[in-house]
Amino acid sequence: MSPDGSPAPCWSPPAIRKDGTDHGEHELGWHLHPDSWGHGYATEAARAMLDHVFAAELPDVWVGMFVENTASRAVAERLGLPFKGIQPDPWYEGDSPLFHVTAKEWLAR
Ligand SMILES: CC(C)(COP(=O)(O)OP(=O)(O)OC[C@H]1O[C@@H](n2cnc3c(N)ncnc32)[C@H](O)[C@@H]1OP(=O)(O)O)[C@@H](O)C(=O)NCCC(=O)NCCS
Repeated sequence: MSPDGSPAPCWSPPAIRKDGTDHGEHELGWHLHPDSWGHGYATEAARAMLDHVFAAELPDVWVGMFVENTASRAVAERLGLPFKGIQPDPWYEGDSPLFHVTAKEWLAR
């Protein structure tokens, strides 16, 4: 949670695509109240979330965002997540910069 109680980084159970298919994928995202931007909270909380889910034996996590969302992409880059390129993603109804990290990669960093 951010200091004002607004939503902060969260991970989803296996994501259901907009077309209704379930590929067993897990996605991490972040959303802070604007008053909480610019302090590193999203990166810090996402790092803690990745520590937690990989300790709980989740095999891998995806992160994606709209192409124009440079603030969100910067969080993924600050975390050091492996970049998989800009690829079509139905969730974003077009291209999305996609990041993917396995438990092994995260725990070995
Ligand atoms: C995406 C979002 C969470 C990013 O928030 P953010 O505050 O920029 O990201 P972080 O928490 O990682 O903070 C990093 C910033 O804090 C600064 N900072 C200040 N003190 C810091 C510290 N002690 N440690 C780390 N960073 C610090 C960094 O320099 C950086 O600022 P900069 O971008 O001006 O260089 C935010 O823009 C948001 O909620 N947007 C709306 C929702 C959204 O689009 N979510 C993504 C959907 S895919």
